[in-house]
Amino acid sequence: MSQIVSFVTSSIGRKLVMAITGLLMIGFLVTHMSANLLVIFDPEGYNAYSHALISNPLIYIAEFGLIALFVGHFVSGFAVTLRNRRARPIAYGENNGAGHTSRKTLASTSMIISGLVMLVFVPLHILSFKFGTWYEAAGDPHVRDLHRLVMEEFQSPLFVMWYLGALTFLAAHAWHGFGSAFESMGVSHRTWIRGSGQALTAILWVGFCAVPVYVYFIAGGGS
Ligand code: HEM
Repeated sequence: MSQIVSFVTSSIGRKLVMAITGLLMIGFLVTHMSANLLVIFDPEGYNAYSHALISNPLIYIAEFGLIALFVGHFVSGFAVTLRNRRARPIAYGENNGAGHTSRKTLASTSMIISGLVMLVFVPLHILSFKFGTWYEAAGDPHVRDLHRLVMEEFQSPLFVMWYLGALTFLAAHAWHGFGSAFESMGVSHRTWIRGSGQALTAILWVGFCAVPVYVYFIAGGGS
């Protein structure tokens, strides 16, 4: 046990925890984004899907797993950042990239900021939706009308703007994080892995943004 703890708290262990938890959360986001598209294409199917999820007792295990991934990811992320800061207490005088061989991008240099935005966004998001108003579905009072809640929340232009902004930070984080995770796991310098992660991130961004954009601009939320 103590060997596991000392590995997980070593600098390689922390990077590995960050990599694995980050990739698993991207996996969750793929399923979450796909289910969200039902808001646009199949409102009843969306409520039925959410009902099937929340009435399955295994949901508690899945939710515990999600919390563990989230906490594990940001605790190891902070620890790695603090260690790097201590190793170089004085910042570089100039922040130049290494020309075409550098992988320094806006996304890579803003990982802490985008991570902090997620730290604020995710709890607020769960408060708004998971613990938001419980409407009963018209056909069956035991089923939650989550579709109605989503349609109501995105009536507010400020809420829509906050979502589109936060989703852009999330995309920037995953854009850089996906490839870096594979490098931390020892699969380094494979451009196709980085490229696939960036393509997946672009799909996630478009898919997630589609819901607030649809509700506000197309379904008449903003009119
Ligand atoms: C426009 C984009 C999004 C919409 C419309 C949306 C909608 C929802 C809704 C309605 C729920 C409640 C589900 C239920 O109780 O059955 C939920 C839960 C959740 N969402 Fe989102 N979501 C979006 C983006 C995101 C993003 C970007 C993240 C992560 C960074 C995220 C993470 C979560 C988590 C962790 C839960 C709780 C899952 C659980 O406890 O079962 N969501 N979302």
